[in-house]
Amino acid sequence: MGVLAIDAGTTGVTALVVTEDGRVASRGYREFPQHFPRPGWVEHVPEEIWQATLAACRHALDGTAETPTAVGITNQRETAVLWDRRTLAAPRPAIVWQDRRTSGVCDRLREAGAEERVSEVTGLRLDPYFTGTKLTWLAENDERAWEGVRQGRVVAGTVDAYLVARLTGGARHVTDATNASRTLLFDLARGEWSAEMCELFGVPAGALPEVVPSYGEVGRTDPDAFLGLDLPIAGIAGDQQAALFGQTCFSPGDVKCTYGTGSFVLINTGPKLVRSNAGLLTTVAWQTPSGELTYALEGSIFVTGAALQWLRDGLGIIDAAPASQAIASSVPDTGGVVFVPALTGLGAPHWDPDARGTILGITRGTTYAHLVRAALEAIAFEVRDVVEVMTGEAGLAVPALKADGGASANDLLMAMQADQLGVPVDRPVVQETTALGAAFLAGLGTGLWTSPDDLRQTWTLDRRFEPGPPDPKAYPRWREAVTRARGWARL
Ligand code: G3P
Repeated sequence: MGVLAIDAGTTGVTALVVTEDGRVASRGYREFPQHFPRPGWVEHVPEEIWQATLAACRHALDGTAETPTAVGITNQRETAVLWDRRTLAAPRPAIVWQDRRTSGVCDRLREAGAEERVSEVTGLRLDPYFTGTKLTWLAENDERAWEGVRQGRVVAGTVDAYLVARLTGGARHVTDATNASRTLLFDLARGEWSAEMCELFGVPAGALPEVVPSYGEVGRTDPDAFLGLDLPIAGIAGDQQAALFGQTCFSPGDVKCTYGTGSFVLINTGPKLVRSNAGLLTTVAWQTPSGELTYALEGSIFVTGAALQWLRDGLGIIDAAPASQAIASSVPDTGGVVFVPALTGLGAPHWDPDARGTILGITRGTTYAHLVRAALEAIAFEVRDVVEVMTGEAGLAVPALKADGGASANDLLMAMQADQLGVPVDRPVVQETTALGAAFLAGLGTGLWTSPDDLRQTWTLDRRFEPGPPDPKAYPRWREAVTRARGWARL
């Protein structure tokens, strides 16, 4: 017995078969293409996400004799997808969370005085990151696709809702509360779509999916659409919330950081809505089948692993992201180089869509190894920026950080992180915590596990990184470099 977990991330889809004792029995992974039609724009082709999902699941299922009894879904959040309700075909590419094209829409709404009310209702802010202004942009700029939305033929949603539609052969149009809470259209306190926000962003409420709890059966896979399988879909959560769940951060005060395309620090605040004035977001952590909401405070950093991907694909100076550890370790420090990887603007705590990637301090002696080391150091600095706001403005204690995600396998990065935070960093044995969280949710939703306590038993520490003394000049230099990266696209 086991659960099939699908993690549809920003750059690829991971599928895991997770056993009753929380072990990963097998895995599949498929990267899918990224499309950058203009500077600052990032698009995905929904069909390519679906094909990658099928391939990753097929591979995972072929690799084990375990028979899954349920499916859990987790996903890159905020990305805006349109598809035809009946044919499931997408009339246009999805606008990805990293896409900055709606910074003008945000400015316009801000000038109209909407920002305060938007954050009061949604816990978010006016930034191109979220789904809402992406839909506004589609309404204003893609007449052909939006006409379908107006007629009720085409629906809108995030990647979880698109995958549920594909998995169920179009039978279900649902999203879970965590994903809904990232759209700018969801009333955070009431736990339902906000008619006021739908009107503000020009989105017909009828196009949006039904909001369902994060666990409990919400539909079944259609064997004709999905590898001949008829299974309950019983867990859905946005990837960062799924990682919080997979790290068993069930108690208020538990905190984790997932190092993926971006890095996302989330702290469980229980049933309490904690609001931030200094750049953190308030979001739904999960919703139980009886409708109770657990909240989290989040620091969203847009580009961390993506910076390593850029070193690989854009510059060609590393073969693969894991190689960054050996290359960065070949030099004792960055030789004074600071890299601000604001490749898609800056998220928390700066929120500057017009910031751009900046490399400072290059000399004749600079080598690619210094740049690679500076990229790793930048990740640790960015996470420190966010944690400082959590412990400062929000007054929350962070005695240790649970780390997961692809780049958490990098020992040098984890050591740098502990040094920068001044607290231990704990890495679990299973670092694919996002997919694990989706498996936990689906297993809880179908009775494979009966309580969060069952799940706690499965969390095992791989390694604790104790903090050492950081170079006192490094962090101030980073702060200065961030100042210089800001506003660049406005010049
Ligand atoms: O909010 C964006 C986030 O969900 C993307 O996560 O893991 O694809 O970087 P990831």
